[in-house]
Amino acid sequence: MESLGRPLRVGFIGAGKMACAILEGMVLSDQIQATNVLVSAPSDKNLLKFKGCGCMVTHSNEAVVEDCKVVFLATKPHVLPGVLKDISDAVTKEHIIISVAAGITLETLEKVYMFAEALAEGAVKMGMPSDLANKIAAHTLLGAAKMILETGEHPAKLRNDVCTPGGTTIYACHELEKGALRATVMNAVEAGTKRAQDMGKS
Ligand SMILES: NC(=O)c1ccc[n+]([C@@H]2O[C@H](COP(=O)([O-])OP(=O)(O)OC[C@H]3O[C@@H](n4cnc5c(N)ncnc54)[C@H](OP(=O)(O)O)[C@@H]3O)[C@@H](O)[C@H]2O)c1
Repeated sequence: MESLGRPLRVGFIGAGKMACAILEGMVLSDQIQATNVLVSAPSDKNLLKFKGCGCMVTHSNEAVVEDCKVVFLATKPHVLPGVLKDISDAVTKEHIIISVAAGITLETLEKVYMFAEALAEGAVKMGMPSDLANKIAAHTLLGAAKMILETGEHPAKLRNDVCTPGGTTIYACHELEKGALRATVMNAVEAGTKRAQDMGKS
């Protein structure tokens, strides 16, 4: 894999079993060479194995994000909040961060699917054929996600920008507020994260 002429650097935060298994798969399938991989962990306990395989190693999680555009978070879920704090200033919109640990960054797909399903079903209720409604819902989510990444704007600002005074959007937003959409999603993230942290401790 190449990125702007130099080989792609892949990072792993956490040097345990999962990091090892993913890296092994990538090396064996010729997707990456160990010399282009940077791995971090707090101790040398596991890190030395990676060094022995030709990977670069560090004790700094932030250094991994600064050096690699693709980063796997491969720690136990209960340390994830600390890891996210370590890397938050270094993450840019070019980064691809893949969380192997269940928790804050990972447990999102089911919520997005449920939201897409609800969007499409609303349109079906208003008379749109289901296949078309699903396609439009998916493209709407794709477009909104691209806008967040490409503009770097806060989602609240983007939402505000499309709310014409007295228009259809603010009427729809009012209904979402009445149904406590944001509070419900925040509760779901919190519940999923706490459950993942409890499972990580046991
Ligand atoms: N094992 C599986 O089959 C499996 C399958 C699916 C998902 N998962 C998930 O994958 C995640 C990793 O599992 P694992 O089995 O690879 O765990 P593991 O073998 O215990 O490895 C955890 C790694 O995280 C490192 N670490 C701890 N605190 C850290 C911090 N603050 N910053 C950076 N690294 C830190 C540890 O460092 P040290 O080396 O210094 O101890 C260790 O290298 C877990 O969330 C697990 O639920 C695991």
